[in-house]
Amino acid sequence: MDLLEAVKIRKSIRAFKSDPVSRQRIEEIFNLVIRAPSAINLQPWEFIVVMGEEKERLSRRLVKLYREKQISCSPGNVKPLSAEFHKRGAESFILMNPYLEKMGQEFNRFVNEGSCNFYGAPAATIFCLDNAFSEARLVDIGIALGYFVLIAHDFGLSTCPIGLINAYEDDIKEILNIPDNKDVVIGAALGYADPTSPINEFTSPRDSLENFVRWID
Ligand SMILES: Cc1cc2nc3c(=O)[nH]c(=O)nc-3n(C[C@H](O)[C@H](O)[C@H](O)COP(=O)(O)O)c2cc1C
Repeated sequence: MDLLEAVKIRKSIRAFKSDPVSRQRIEEIFNLVIRAPSAINLQPWEFIVVMGEEKERLSRRLVKLYREKQISCSPGNVKPLSAEFHKRGAESFILMNPYLEKMGQEFNRFVNEGSCNFYGAPAATIFCLDNAFSEARLVDIGIALGYFVLIAHDFGLSTCPIGLINAYEDDIKEILNIPDNKDVVIGAALGYADPTSPINEFTSPRDSLENFVRWID
């Protein structure tokens, strides 16, 4: 598929078919993901792929933890957000809600429990960073995630980044036996989109470019 076309049509998918994704295909994806640039070519990323019964076990544990701790998807800001960011967040809710209503789902529960369940995808991927690195290296992980979602798309697969798992980092490290010196940065659901689910008809909007770019010339 043409790269620009993929950039235009890729979107986060929040309902997956149960069909498994082969290990060989996931290896192909990550073999391309690691072509991503990184500072001083440190390639600081580490990926964990959880599939099969282990993925189901992880999902069950995370959903249970969510029900106990009630830590929800949030922007994770350290200072109050400006009105424009609030507007964009609210817009996501307003625009997504009609699709969830069709499914008889309530937004918060769907997004939070869905995220903990990797939206039913057969593969859960976890992107880690050695904690010897500074926060600056999170950029490299973000680039790898960007590659991942586009490369998966090219293979006819769908993804949804899952930042919520970060809130359950200690639990995930215990469940997946991740060493203390590795930080869980982000997760992503990977699988085949369920074309029959109304939520997959939802496409998120973008603000106009003039709100993002300041020209100095
Ligand atoms: C760092 C990051 C964390 C995210 N975390 C979640 C999450 O926990 N749950 C979720 O449903 N979507 C999550 N998303 C997906 C975003 O909501 C989505 O990318 C955004 O609404 C734009 O929609 P699109 O990906 O369909 O273009 C995350 C995306 C990013 C980049």
